[in-house]
Order: sequence, then structure tokens, then C-alpha cells
Amino acid sequence: MLTHTVEEGPLFNRFRQLWDEIAPIGRDEHSGGYLRYALTEPELRLREWFRKQADARDMPVAEDGNGNLFAWWGDPEAGNAVLTGSHFDSVPHGGAYDGPLGIVSAWLAVDELRAAGVSPARPLAVGAFVEEEGARFGVPCLGSRLLTGQLDAARAGALRDAAGVSFAEALGARPAGADPALLGRIAAFVELHVEQGRALVDQTAPVAVASAIWPHGRWRLDFTGEGNHAGTTRMADRRDPMLTYAFTVLAANKEARLRDAHATVARVAVEPNATNAIPSRVTGWLDARAAEPETLAELVEAVRAKVVERARRDGTRVTLTEESATPLVAFDGGLADRLARLLDAPVLPTGAGHDAGVLAAHVPTAMLFVRNPTGVSHSPAESATDADCVAGVTALAKVLEELTR
Ligand code: GLV
Ligand code: MN
Ligand code: MN
Ligand code: MN
Repeated sequence: MLTHTVEEGPLFNRFRQLWDEIAPIGRDEHSGGYLRYALTEPELRLREWFRKQADARDMPVAEDGNGNLFAWWGDPEAGNAVLTGSHFDSVPHGGAYDGPLGIVSAWLAVDELRAAGVSPARPLAVGAFVEEEGARFGVPCLGSRLLTGQLDAARAGALRDAAGVSFAEALGARPAGADPALLGRIAAFVELHVEQGRALVDQTAPVAVASAIWPHGRWRLDFTGEGNHAGTTRMADRRDPMLTYAFTVLAANKEARLRDAHATVARVAVEPNATNAIPSRVTGWLDARAAEPETLAELVEAVRAKVVERARRDGTRVTLTEESATPLVAFDGGLADRLARLLDAPVLPTGAGHDAGVLAAHVPTAMLFVRNPTGVSHSPAESATDADCVAGVTALAKVLEELTR
């Protein structure tokens, strides 16, 4: 039986030690945020660190052919395994906790179980999924979508980063795609993650259990007009796609507010991107999310209709292409209730996507959230206190002990 409590010192120190090992990797000294894109040098160093942690614990590592890593305590072939872990990759200038906290906590939870003399009755695996954020190849949860067969392997392999490198090239092989045999051996997946909103601050609890993930998706908007001279083209003669784009940003914000949904336009590419040239082309990306799938569909349709009408008035053209879609995820209710009782923790939904959301359609899955004092995430300002991280490790160890009985 685990007896550690948050007040004891050694776990704080071991948390700090592991955290400090990875803290410098991929940190941008100007922003203080992280540039840990999948399969680039910083992320490869983190994967190397993962292998060292596994070695130190005598847990053999297997890569699944899609870029996901799994370290095994017990026989990987035995079935009925419990998987825990998260991802190393970050958004551009992302925070330290989104992803890595779930992996660091997994190693420390293994240590807690071993220190308490727990010997799991079933295999326990620590996992690191590749390209969770979609920051390099555009599709979030790429590794888990491949493993589960939710994304076609040929399509994933052909996805290219901004420099034109394909996912297959970065991986060094064509992705293997769906692995039902591996999935079939996993009886439960638990992902611990930093909370990405203010829910836990408001509830004064250090750890929560997730109930659901809002349906969400990414849409690319291609605006085309006529490139021309900024000094000589009369205002009435312009066909300026930047204008239609600007309207889109405002329309998305307004339509989301009307529905209690979330819409964000945070990435844009402009051609030719010159101060004194009316652009010929603007590409923008819409991230939209809502509690209900119907609301999300309505939101995207409302934005599309308004933008098409605006383009007509601006003399530009616009097309909207869905780049990724994640349906509503309802985590296994029985499992969530069981863990909430075990931990005496609140249960709450989130608008953030996770590999756990992808796995949930295939294996009983749960998530633990660790309090984030500001609620800020996908930013260098993302934070969590050491005390709450230690509370997270203790909670995860308890959960793993319970599930591997
Ligand atoms: C991933 O973090 C997402 O929800 O965008
Ligand atoms: Mn994230
Ligand atoms: Mn994450
Ligand atoms: Mn995420």
C-alpha cells in the first residue's frame, strides 16, 4: 500500500532532479518558452533521456513503428497492461509542463510503486507519443492517431513540415499505421497533464479527473486577391485578401462568443509579405471548439457563410479546408468516477486535445489534471507548483497501483 504523502521531502527532490534534467532542452532563451518540435534535435534528446530513464529502471523500450515509445515493466506480450505517459513535443514557444509533466510523473510513479514494494499483477508501460501538438506536421495527436488507425499511414507519412521534410523522412521510415495487436494488449491508459485552464484554481484542488474533451478542429482558409502596389492602387480598385482575412478574425470571435464556444485565428501566412505590396494571397488557420458537436458545426458554418459573403464584397476568393477534426470525447464514466473516489478529486471537462482523447475510442482511458495557478498554457507563462506536481505523482501512483492490481 502506498504511504507517501505530499509533505514528505524525498519525492520533492526527485521531482526537481528529473525536472531540472530536461528543463534546458529546447528552451528558447529569449521567450523562455520551448521549441520542442517532434523528431527535431530537442525532442530527439528528450527521447534519448526517456530511454535512459527506462534503462535505469530495467524497462525495455519498444518503438511502435509510428514514432511512439513504450517502456515496459512486465511482459509486453502478456496483455491486460496499464499504459501511462504523454508527449514531449511543444507548440512554438510553449510551456514546460504541457506533455513532459505526464512523462516525468510516470517515471516517478513507477519509483513510488517500487519503493512501496508494489509488484503489479499486470504489465505497466510508460509511453511517449510523437507529434501531439501538430506543431511540425499540422495534424495533432499524429502518433496516437496512427497507432489507433484513425489516420491513414500513407497520408501521415506524406505530411510535410515548413521546410518540406515529410513525416516519413523525419521518422526514417514509412509509418507502420494501426497496430490493433498492441492496442489489444492495453487494458487502460491514464494520461497525467497540466491543467490548461483555471478550473482547479477555482475549486482549490491540486488534482482533477477528466470527464470529456470538447469536439474541436482546424480549418485552413485560403484567401486570394490581386497583388499590387500600395502607393498607386486606388482604394476602390483593390482586391485585398488581407481585408477578408481581417474580417474573418473578427467574425470568428463574434460567432464563438454568441455560442459560448471558442474560436482562434492565431496563425497566418501572407504573400508576398511586403509592407508596400497589397498581398496576393493570405492563408489563415481557424481553431474552433465547443462543448457540443452541433454547436461546433454551427459555428464553423456561420464563419464560413459570413466570410464567403465578405469575400464577394471584397472581390477576393476564399476556400475553407478541414485539416483535422476531433469528435467529442467522453472518457469512460465508470473509470473516471472510480478514480475520482480514489483520489477524492473533482471531475471536469476540458477544451484541450490530448492523445488520451484519441486512445479513449479504443481502450478505457482516464486523465488526471494537475492544477495550473494561472490557467495559462501554450505559452512560456504556463506553470505548476512543485507541491502540486508532487501531488500529481502521488495521485498517479495510487491510480496505477489500483489499476494494475
Ligand atoms: C493541443 O494541445 C490542443 O488542444 O491544441
Ligand atoms: Mn498542448
Ligand atoms: Mn499536451
Ligand atoms: Mn495537446
